[in-house]
Amino acid sequence: MTATKGLEGIVATTSSISSIIDGVLTYRGIDIDDLADHASFEEVVYLLWYGKLPNKSELEQLHRDLSESATVADSVIQQIKLYPKDTNSMAALRSAVSALALYDSEANDMSQEANLRKAIRLQAQLPTIIAAFARIREGKEPIAPKANVSIAYNFLYMLTGKEPESIAVEALDKALVLHADHELNASTFAARVTVATLSDIYSGVTSAIGALKGPLHGGANEAVMAMLEEIGTASNVEAYISEKLANKEKIMGFGHRVYKNGDPRAKHLQKMSGELGKITNNMNWYDMSIQIEELVTGQKGLKPNVDFYSASVYTSLEIPRDLFTPIFAISRVSGWTAHILEQYENNRLIRPRAEYTGPVNQKYVPIESR
Ligand code: ACO
Repeated sequence: MTATKGLEGIVATTSSISSIIDGVLTYRGIDIDDLADHASFEEVVYLLWYGKLPNKSELEQLHRDLSESATVADSVIQQIKLYPKDTNSMAALRSAVSALALYDSEANDMSQEANLRKAIRLQAQLPTIIAAFARIREGKEPIAPKANVSIAYNFLYMLTGKEPESIAVEALDKALVLHADHELNASTFAARVTVATLSDIYSGVTSAIGALKGPLHGGANEAVMAMLEEIGTASNVEAYISEKLANKEKIMGFGHRVYKNGDPRAKHLQKMSGELGKITNNMNWYDMSIQIEELVTGQKGLKPNVDFYSASVYTSLEIPRDLFTPIFAISRVSGWTAHILEQYENNRLIRPRAEYTGPVNQKYVPIESR
């Protein structure tokens, strides 16, 4: 038995949800470029769950279902009020999503219909939880979700209490489309491992949030913004990046386990970052990002991943830095739940082996002799 570090190159399951073939990402066989240009996030959610694009009435029904499910149990809101104000936002999300299960009478109903209803509730309630957390920690009251608006609109509305501008809603919606699913990424794998024990969907999503939090995965978007803020201006970029690379330190938002010739999602976010920079009359973050990309790609051959330009996109939308990774979760919960439903459909316990590298033939030594 020989271990493959980080399971690189290991094919651990079959899946018909999304694919990465020759650097092209598809959801249910549709190129991400096509979806980024034409689909709404809700259409993508439907596509991931049901395997086909919705017709008009199916999409309207999904909008209604999501709208009706967006209110979070008051007991969970009361719990969020007890969280320390300076707690990590992904830790808060992880705890609140776990708590949702306590107040869902269907939490342990493993029927397919109940699991689909719970997937809808999770998709609808993650934005409400994150917006509520963001307001509560500032001493403000949470804002109830609005009916008959998109998830992107509702999130911005619940966060600020103001009607968001359509340009902001469109940008966030596209970012949600781009982050929705990504084959067997670390958080999706964590979700599948959890539910393959026949544990419930809330446990699966809670595991996934824990995995997404780390800076080698979803946490990278926040780390990118921290880096941009630390660098400050374009004139500091070259010295900063060269020093990091010389010290063999990682530049957040670059590199990928699967894509070696570039992440197909990054170009959409780069374009949005430039457009939003122009609209907000602040090209600083975009200009710095372009310069960083030139240096890192030039010196290391590494290309930006989905997290790199999403940092400047969200900053242009005036979203606090520590909500970037929770926003990733608002989108990816669609993929997590699609994968959880797929895992239940054809389940087998996921239980690989480890190559043992410890000592052998040891004997128990009584405590007084140690
Ligand atoms: N900056 C500098 N060097 C890097 C970077 C980077 N961002 N990424 C990889 N490298 C280097 C490594 O140091 C290593 O060099 P070495 O062979 O000289 O030791 C080589 O490239 C291979 O890197 P690994 O870390 O082994 O690649 P792996 O496939 O394990 O990791 C990962 C992929 C985690 C994404 C990595 O590229 C990384 O840490 N990137 C920064 C964090 C990040 O942006 N994560 C988000 C990924 S996308 C997502 O999850 C949504």
